[in-house]
Amino acid sequence: MRWLVNHKQRLIITVVFYFVVLLLISMRKNSMYKYSTETYTMYNISSSLVVSDPTGTFRAKLPVSHAFINSVYYYPTSKSLGENAIAFTMAIDHHSNNMGHHTFNVLGYNSTNMIKSVATAQTEGISRCQYTTMMARTNTLSRLEKIEIESNGVSVEVPFKLARYTAPKPVIICISPQFAAEQWQLFVMHVHAANRFGGHLHIYLTSIIESYFELMKEYERQGYITLDYWLRMKFANPRTPYFEPNQNVEWRNQAGAQTDCLLQYKEAAEYIAFFDMDDILFPRDFPTYLEEFNAVLHANPGKNYLFYGRREHEFVKASTLSEFSFTELVQSLRSSQTVKRGKVVVRPEAYNSTWIHNSKHVSFATSVQVSSPTLVHVQLPVDKNGKRNHSRDLWKIEFGPLIEKIREDDIKAIEEDIYR
Ligand SMILES: *[C@@H]1O[C@H](CO)[C@@H](O)[C@H](O)[C@H]1NC(C)=O
Ligand SMILES: *[C@@H]1O[C@H](CO)[C@@H](O)[C@H](O)[C@H]1NC(C)=O
Ligand SMILES: *[C@@H]1O[C@H](CO)[C@@H](O)[C@H](O)[C@H]1NC(C)=O
Ligand SMILES: *[C@@H]1O[C@H](CO)[C@@H](O)[C@H](O)[C@H]1NC(C)=O
Repeated sequence: MRWLVNHKQRLIITVVFYFVVLLLISMRKNSMYKYSTETYTMYNISSSLVVSDPTGTFRAKLPVSHAFINSVYYYPTSKSLGENAIAFTMAIDHHSNNMGHHTFNVLGYNSTNMIKSVATAQTEGISRCQYTTMMARTNTLSRLEKIEIESNGVSVEVPFKLARYTAPKPVIICISPQFAAEQWQLFVMHVHAANRFGGHLHIYLTSIIESYFELMKEYERQGYITLDYWLRMKFANPRTPYFEPNQNVEWRNQAGAQTDCLLQYKEAAEYIAFFDMDDILFPRDFPTYLEEFNAVLHANPGKNYLFYGRREHEFVKASTLSEFSFTELVQSLRSSQTVKRGKVVVRPEAYNSTWIHNSKHVSFATSVQVSSPTLVHVQLPVDKNGKRNHSRDLWKIEFGPLIEKIREDDIKAIEEDIYR
């Protein structure tokens, strides 16, 4: 965030702590340990007890594992999770204790009964960071009113939300959290392409330039997108030493946001795509994403998700919204031969959690590796009048004529939609 401060950008920082609940998971009998007897180095900042690990290589083990529960969803019915299911996602410290097969007791209450059930969990992502993304699920009782999650004698009441049963479009594109966001050209390109092909963007925000935020809110009013607020995890009242979670989780817990999106739309969408703002899909054979995905799976019996590679592209970006022309943008698009590790589009009943690229709990053998089209990955837009910055050459990517096919009638319709 130093960049923001230096440049005095007008930023609004949308920090929404809507569902962060902390659970201390003790692997010892006496759960609240006395930190005064421990030998950790502490940052002494505003009475916090952050374990000092400036290089990110410190491998201290704490007697407890902290877990930040991001969200909990309740499913009165579910195609894949069963009746009265709940599913929750969290960032959990898996270095202090091995959390591979951890279970949680869930106490579910309705107005007349209480049921205790055991939630099984699975992690996603790389194991290098102190915290990893975890999803847990179990079944509880009907007309749920309250839940508590308990682990080794420590329990917390957790707010929950009803999962969605309707979606604005059959295809939901989950966009990983935007931070210090200012490349509005990518958004305008993506949102109109998605709209043309029957996709709805569900966008997570952490921080964004104010004028860009106003633009997004207008698209939300027009029904093109749903905005959601991704969080920076904080303790209100730490009583034991802990690792700073935002700093010690892979990509600000991007996998947690994508898993949250999956859990929200699990019963509502036909397909869910886990993309970044700069991953744009133009269907090759059919007018809509839905028809295209159905056709691919139909041609590949036994498969239940699609894997698209990301081909690097550059384009010339407009400097103002009134100068933005989709036709000109497409004319300036240049493709490279570089195709990077891809992103997935899933049938939500066949996926329970995900990582940035795909879930490690669903076999690769059930995916279709789509070789064409690839995602148009527009990580490198160039300024209209700006000189080419040679630091870009560090990417060592050569760009040539556009390889992906973008149909004339789609370009025209997208242009008209933007103009409208
Ligand atoms: C932490 O800071 C407070 C206030 O500045 C000070 O009183 C306290 O002695 C410091 N503690 C340590 C362990 O340095
Ligand atoms: C998702 O979870 C449900 C309930 O535990 C289980 O029956 C199903 O097999 C899981 N699906 C996948 C793809 O792991
Ligand atoms: C509470 O849950 C129990 C067990 O599932 C169920 O039999 C009962 O009908 C529920 N109570 C209400 C008021 O729905
Ligand atoms: C080129 O990019 C580098 C790194 O982002 C930056 O430090 C430099 O000022 C840029 N040069 C120009 C001419 O914009």
